[in-house]
Amino acid sequence: MRTIHVIGIGAGDPDQLTLQAVKALRGTDVFFVLDKGEVKSDLTRLRRDMLETHIPEGGYRVVEARDPERDRRAGGAAYSPAVGDWRSARADIYARLIEEELGEDETGAFLVWGDPALYDSTIAILEEVLERGRVDFTYDVVPGISSVSALVARHRTCLNRVARPVQITTGRRLAEGFPEGVDDVVVMLDAHQAFRQYTDEDLHIYWGAYIGTPDEILVSGPIAEAAPRIERLRAEARERKGWIMDTYLLRRHPKEA
Ligand SMILES: C[S@@+](CC[C@H](N)C(=O)[O-])C[C@H]1O[C@@H](n2cnc3c(N)ncnc32)[C@H](O)[C@@H]1O
Repeated sequence: MRTIHVIGIGAGDPDQLTLQAVKALRGTDVFFVLDKGEVKSDLTRLRRDMLETHIPEGGYRVVEARDPERDRRAGGAAYSPAVGDWRSARADIYARLIEEELGEDETGAFLVWGDPALYDSTIAILEEVLERGRVDFTYDVVPGISSVSALVARHRTCLNRVARPVQITTGRRLAEGFPEGVDDVVVMLDAHQAFRQYTDEDLHIYWGAYIGTPDEILVSGPIAEAAPRIERLRAEARERKGWIMDTYLLRRHPKEA
């Protein structure tokens, strides 16, 4: 039976790789690396460096494939179907990779940014591949340090206040309104800086870009003061590197415990 590890590799700092992840890496015959194109090739490089560091003796294969482009023009109600089509297109590629590149008794691995359980579709895609029934395998999931954990650690704060909830959402959702019933909101996948529409005096932001990498930028403070600074730093960094990954925590009533 083919075996697959879905390995969370942390959000950018190679030292975030857990011992469990290293064990899984060392037990892998074939690594599948899906490249999203030129802007993300830095991330592909980081994955290759991890393999060279932790499996210096080699003996594994790396199979690269091109990730299909997602139709990002689809907004509103069309958003979910667009993601669904994209997922199916990826499932075709994953099925082919597993069938053609992984021997019957071999172990393969997908190296997933951060934690595979957070805004990542690898698990859903593998389930779709299994459901189709063309190729059979078992898989397990190795948790990783998410960008959310890394963000709050770098800002030396907690995600939630005492006995209070915290919500993790996307920039797209935040643009539709501040979530109800929570004062602590983590925002990911925000290409449009949705935080700019919130100017309440009692709202604090903890922002981080490229967290855990040499390019890391951190800004925190009352939103009215921090937002223009983040906007400027974000634009400069994006221009310089060609891509950006940022995450932030919005905290209402920051003085409350
Ligand atoms: C597709 S999601 C993947 C999340 C990942 N599975 C995790 O656990 O962090 C991509 C989003 O994660 C966040 N992200 C990932 N790595 C980051 C980093 N090093 N610094 C800041 N944000 C990051 C950004 O919000 C980005 O838009």
